Amino acid sequence: MTTAPSSTIAVTGAAGQLGRALCRLLGPRAINLPRGALDITQPQQVQAVLERLRPAAVINCAAWTAVDRAETEFPAAFAANASAVQHLADACRTIDCRLVQVSTDYVFGADASRTTPYAETDPPGPLNGYGRSKLAGEVAARSWANHQIVRTCGLYTAGEQGPVRGRNFADTMLVLARDRPEVRVVADQFCTPSYVPHVAEAILALLESDATGTFHLTNAGSTSWHGFARELFQQAGLPTVAVPIPASEYPSPVVRPAYSVLDAGRLGGLGIFLPSWQQGIAAYLAAQTGGGQASA
Ligand SMILES: NC(=O)c1ccc[n+]([C@@H]2O[C@H](COP(=O)([O-])OP(=O)(O)OC[C@H]3O[C@@H](n4cnc5c(N)ncnc54)[C@H](OP(=O)(O)O)[C@@H]3O)[C@@H](O)[C@H]2O)c1
Repeated sequence: MTTAPSSTIAVTGAAGQLGRALCRLLGPRAINLPRGALDITQPQQVQAVLERLRPAAVINCAAWTAVDRAETEFPAAFAANASAVQHLADACRTIDCRLVQVSTDYVFGADASRTTPYAETDPPGPLNGYGRSKLAGEVAARSWANHQIVRTCGLYTAGEQGPVRGRNFADTMLVLARDRPEVRVVADQFCTPSYVPHVAEAILALLESDATGTFHLTNAGSTSWHGFARELFQQAGLPTVAVPIPASEYPSPVVRPAYSVLDAGRLGGLGIFLPSWQQGIAAYLAAQTGGGQASA
């Protein structure tokens, strides 16, 4: 059994949107751990695999990300998003390596009157099962001192969807825009949809720092889903009109935050700045057209 050099970074959930981008950026330093190589809900497997590999850090991109189904299948969502993070934290303590836990803006939302970006120090208050499970995952990550919890939002990327994963919001909008003169989009939920390669670069920059604790990490600025779609159509040169609708007109089994914009000031204090959400869209469209592997 070989032991990897200590500069290697283990990426769990390596087949997901963020996991793939991180592995690509890390190149030979990456230890790709898709679900088939490591199921993070299995504590003995987690311990054995990490003790064997002894990476310098684990970036946990594995998660239950089906927000709607987290309502009806909460135990399974909790197992992946919370209990499994405890297994990772315990294993990271055993081998003395850093744990980077990726979390979400959905740990916020309960403050219905909120109109200013959330700081890392603001008390969380999730509105749905997914948010509750991810918040419990943050608590688990904090049980090991050498952790970085990275809260991000609305991830989308170009041409990264595997055969069973649904399209991200940007892909969905472009597909709808193909056949329709107008698309109805929720206009009263504000956040910062973030382009995965920008998020992945910033996570690796943060990993280089000695700072531990919780960090907000999204593209800069904020918008509604309607604002995002309108900008996407405009940048893509599409004539499709994004029609604003209230969330109450979009049937969903899940309550989502009306406002979950994250203040990335702590990251800025470390000299790490992400491009604007509009630049995220521009990079996404460039990758769609230039990469030749768009899924839509
Ligand atoms: N997507 C967003 O909009 C968003 C927003 C904010 C925060 N986040 C957070 O960002 C992180 C990455 O999200 P993403 O968009 O890259 O998610 P994603 O594309 O859904 O990828 C998640 C990956 O985790 C894997 N996984 C699920 N359960 C697992 C388990 N028990 N053991 C090992 N792997 C498992 C999945 O494998 P299978 O395909 O086999 O299930 C999938 O490859 C997550 O922590 C998520 O909560 C995402």
